[in-house]
Amino acid sequence: MSKKFPNLFSPAKIGNLTLKNRIIKAPQSSGMSNIDGSVTERLVRYYRDQAAGGAAMIIVEYAYIDDIGSKSAHCHLGISNNEHIPGLAWLAENIREQGSIPAIQIEHCGRQKFLGTQPICAPSEIPWPKLWNQYGVQAVPHALTIEEIQDIVHAFGDAALRAKTAGFELVEIHGAHGYLLTNFFSPTTNRRNDLYGGSLENRMRIYLEVYRDIRKKVGPDFPVTIRLSGTDYEPDGFGIEDTIALAKALESEGIDALHISGGDHHTMIHQVSPMSMSICHNTWAAEAIKKEVKIPVIASGSITLPEYAEEIISSKKGDFVGLGRPLWADPEWPLKASEDRPEDIRPCIRCNEGCLERSFFLYKAVTCGLNPVISREGELKLKPASKVKNIAVIGAGPAGMEAARVCKLRGHNVTIFEEKKTKGGLAVEAAVPEFKADIRPLTKYQITAIEKLGIPVVNKQATEADLKDFDSVICATGSTPVKPCIPGTDKKIVADALDILNKTVKPGKNIVVIGGGLVGSETALHLSENGHDVTLVEMLPQIMNDVAVTDLLAYTERISKTNMRVLTSTRLVEVIDDGVIVESKGCTKKLPADTVVLALGLKSRQSLYDSLVQKGKEAYLIGDAVKPGKIMDAFHTAYRIGLKI
Ligand SMILES: Cc1cc2nc3c(=O)[nH]c(=O)nc-3n(C[C@H](O)[C@H](O)[C@H](O)COP(=O)(O)O)c2cc1C
Ligand code: SF4
Repeated sequence: MSKKFPNLFSPAKIGNLTLKNRIIKAPQSSGMSNIDGSVTERLVRYYRDQAAGGAAMIIVEYAYIDDIGSKSAHCHLGISNNEHIPGLAWLAENIREQGSIPAIQIEHCGRQKFLGTQPICAPSEIPWPKLWNQYGVQAVPHALTIEEIQDIVHAFGDAALRAKTAGFELVEIHGAHGYLLTNFFSPTTNRRNDLYGGSLENRMRIYLEVYRDIRKKVGPDFPVTIRLSGTDYEPDGFGIEDTIALAKALESEGIDALHISGGDHHTMIHQVSPMSMSICHNTWAAEAIKKEVKIPVIASGSITLPEYAEEIISSKKGDFVGLGRPLWADPEWPLKASEDRPEDIRPCIRCNEGCLERSFFLYKAVTCGLNPVISREGELKLKPASKVKNIAVIGAGPAGMEAARVCKLRGHNVTIFEEKKTKGGLAVEAAVPEFKADIRPLTKYQITAIEKLGIPVVNKQATEADLKDFDSVICATGSTPVKPCIPGTDKKIVADALDILNKTVKPGKNIVVIGGGLVGSETALHLSENGHDVTLVEMLPQIMNDVAVTDLLAYTERISKTNMRVLTSTRLVEVIDDGVIVESKGCTKKLPADTVVLALGLKSRQSLYDSLVQKGKEAYLIGDAVKPGKIMDAFHTAYRIGLKI
């Protein structure tokens, strides 16, 4: 019994099912099914590991319900015909064998069809903006006829029966996130003037019909839940009052629980929120709904740490928590929390780099930026080293600490050399802005991990003499800021972005930031939000070219709320004593400033590695020392080298 999280680890019921704790794996498409929607061995391996991590119930990702227009994405899981049942039964059995309850979400994608192929079905001919930008008129949905709506209602019921037949113990209707049912519910996407449009009663009709058809087919005792967005966050969409009315109507029909999320794919930052958005981002909606119903409510979205989950349960904002990305960053999140070891949990930092970016925008199977094992379960397992070595890791940044952890767990003798007094490398500077606070628990987790493993950290810059007795050297030597050959950049008013973030340099009131990449934009935003007058100068036509889509959207919104000026297609010509001279479209002008912040990129530090290799030493490069990148690059390169030695 957990002393730290007693409410989170108390059993509770959904319908006639008893869940051993309050943790439910939120459904998340993985892109790991076959092209015909059937289950793959890879998918089974992935869910086995998720289930073994201790969540009471796993809600398997959305499965499409018919072979007409419900399939949304590449390698999307299917439950549209009986051919899918054998694979689904295999999947359900594997989840149950690991001690978790197998559940599955069933879905019709409506207008949000990533595949972009017709038929795209929706209540009205209003396309999903992303698809419209990609495909134009091809993206305009077909407005469903009444007969077609009825076919879809029956397809939901048939799919639920298949889920039950396959051995799933609960079925969840996907009624959230901008898919078909929300297309009916939201006035943004429903312009019908028949029985399915207009009034709230009409807009919620399909939800009730779907539920009734399912109930008729699965019987009175089989648990059925629904996922709802508290609001779609669209200016002319639906609000929490509408969702409360829908929740009450579903409750009176007999639904067993409500799983509350938020947003649609157009307002993705409210659904799969990046780290600059609030934690527990949609819990407010779960709480508002819970006050109005008697059935269990599952709160979900950005519940990254067990203390947040415990607070939600203990303060009755929700009866359960739905965790998505946190169980990718660390599938053993529930087990570690239940053993009162929250410090051992590798916390999701809501970077979206490994998961959302890869699957929604790059058509790959999901992974996690911090956990390359996701989608490679069984392939990238840590195995004892065939020959124990003495390994030196140079640098205690994210890559160095991860490589040290992996090598130590494999049985090697590991020593870290770190020249700075603090551990964490550039993650320390990266975590300074309040909107990047999620990185702080990650650094804490890494430091705790190396301390618990007893890995010594020598506080000095390693020389080749220090390294002569080591069998292998892993160079996690990081990167340094690029120094441009531009007149005046050696003046007193010039500082590097990292020096501003780590407070080595105190910035003045009036600041010009040069370089609108990730570091420059974040530094400018941080300074602007802290009361400085900031102008951001970028040579390219756009800022934040190397930023994850959800960060770009969230930062753009944030920047618009500050008085920060952004000058694109503008080049730094010279730094002068009281500002800078910039050039745009052939015209030069002066921008007054008392501090000029340079964020012109980083370059890898490889000299130690080069020298070791030249002398025939076994040496490896990881993280920024390979190529300046993101935290995901640090963790992935470190894990792979740690596995190889
Ligand atoms: C790659 C990816 C796939 C997702 N697929 C689904 C899905 O199939 N069904 C669903 O209801 N939500 C889906 N979601 C939303 C998640 O269930 C969850 O609500 C969201 O990630 C925020 O919660 P978290 O912070 O716990 O991850 C998906 C999210 C991601 C990142
Ligand atoms: S890739 Fe980033 S956001 Fe996605 S699960 Fe991993 S840490 Fe979380």
